[in-house]
Amino acid sequence: MKVLVIGGGAREHALCRSLSLDPDVTALYCAPGNAGIAEVAELRSVDALDGAAVAALAADLGAGLVVVGPEAPLVAGVADAVRARGIPVFGPSAQAARLEGSKAFAKDVMAAAGVPTARSYVCTTAEEIDAALDAFGAPYVVKDDGLAAGKGVVVTEDAAAARAHALACVEGGGQTVIEEFLDGPEVSLFAVTDGETVVPLQPAQDFKRALDGDAGPNTGGMGAYSPLPWADPQLVDEVLATVLQPTVDELRRRGTPFSGLLYAGLAITSRGVRVIEFNARFGDPETQVVLARLKTPLAGLLHAAATGTLAAVPPLRWSDGAAVTVVIASHNYPGTPRTGDPVEGLAAVAEQDGPTAYVLHAGTTQDASGAVLSAGGRVLSVTATGADLTAARDRAYRAVGRISLDGSQHRTDIARKAAADAARATNAGAQA
Ligand code: AMP
Ligand code: GLY
Repeated sequence: MKVLVIGGGAREHALCRSLSLDPDVTALYCAPGNAGIAEVAELRSVDALDGAAVAALAADLGAGLVVVGPEAPLVAGVADAVRARGIPVFGPSAQAARLEGSKAFAKDVMAAAGVPTARSYVCTTAEEIDAALDAFGAPYVVKDDGLAAGKGVVVTEDAAAARAHALACVEGGGQTVIEEFLDGPEVSLFAVTDGETVVPLQPAQDFKRALDGDAGPNTGGMGAYSPLPWADPQLVDEVLATVLQPTVDELRRRGTPFSGLLYAGLAITSRGVRVIEFNARFGDPETQVVLARLKTPLAGLLHAAATGTLAAVPPLRWSDGAAVTVVIASHNYPGTPRTGDPVEGLAAVAEQDGPTAYVLHAGTTQDASGAVLSAGGRVLSVTATGADLTAARDRAYRAVGRISLDGSQHRTDIARKAAADAARATNAGAQA
């Protein structure tokens, strides 16, 4: 099978890495890719938002599967264009991708499907905004209705800041979703679906805030780990039954079936599991850790989802170990990042830490001399596996320590608490 991946972040590097390890993949292409992906796939250039161009590229390459990584092409209808060419594509239609593209639409689907989520109001005027903020009180949760790369959400105790964000969202005819604050740890659970059968992957946890201790602004995600030793072993089955399957069934019932990757962002509250958001694609950086543990060949799984044959796929196989990824971001991310700085230490990681630790590239490019330069906000996703979270975490941070990028930032507490709690539980078990 020849496979074309659309996108150029660390998520796509993780996808390409796993696809390149699948013996059924005879050729792997990525557009536009990045400096790291170039090591495992042939890069092509394409306007990823132009469905006709992506479909033409896939046809030219003789691709038997197209995997669309980011949300923007999905919302723009790229999967529809590829599917119309008769080429299997992993990724939902534009209609189904509205689950991510419009938070108001997602709330409507959840209400119809009986899926537990935060109570919310969709507002378009200052009067509605004030009424909604008053109704819920602090902490305020204010969301831009449309796509905002994980940065359209403000959670704050400050009523004036909440109001200002809401007003900015509705300016020029937009909508804002104001909702009840959900407390409790967050879980990202992905499911592969063909529109009918739903196959959940293993859960992961993302670290959305920029700084240690969950301080600072929301980002696209600064690190992740999997598995979640603290989570209820029934969690995946429960979310499949109460969230994933009902949502997929509801979209099929509406005549807009969702095939591809359904990402449920969940809060485990004292009153039970609640959906914080849906995404219509693999999460970044959670994919880096989930795929590091998946033993089932990836291309076959995604192809089955793309061709409506998931029911025939045997149960997925997983490594018993753990995976941790730490994002290295540019100076000033998530604000306008500084780019063009040289990235050093990549060869040292490959030589001294591989294959249990490796660097997935996000915003990187190569200059004429072959030097790798930063080219975006999130630059690298340093990923490691190990027998448990402590081992994986130690390896990931050892590799992070070998990399230098002027002005860069990373969190030092990715998976720290989960690893310590798990180690304590293991010791207590050993002493009992
Ligand atoms: P979203 O883009 O909807 O995932 O929101 C980004 C982040 O904002 C989430 O990962 C949460 O950390 C936070 N957030 C979103 N909605 C809520 C909520 N209702 N209560 C508390 N935190 C939230
Ligand atoms: N890591 C969060 C996301 O992919 O939306």
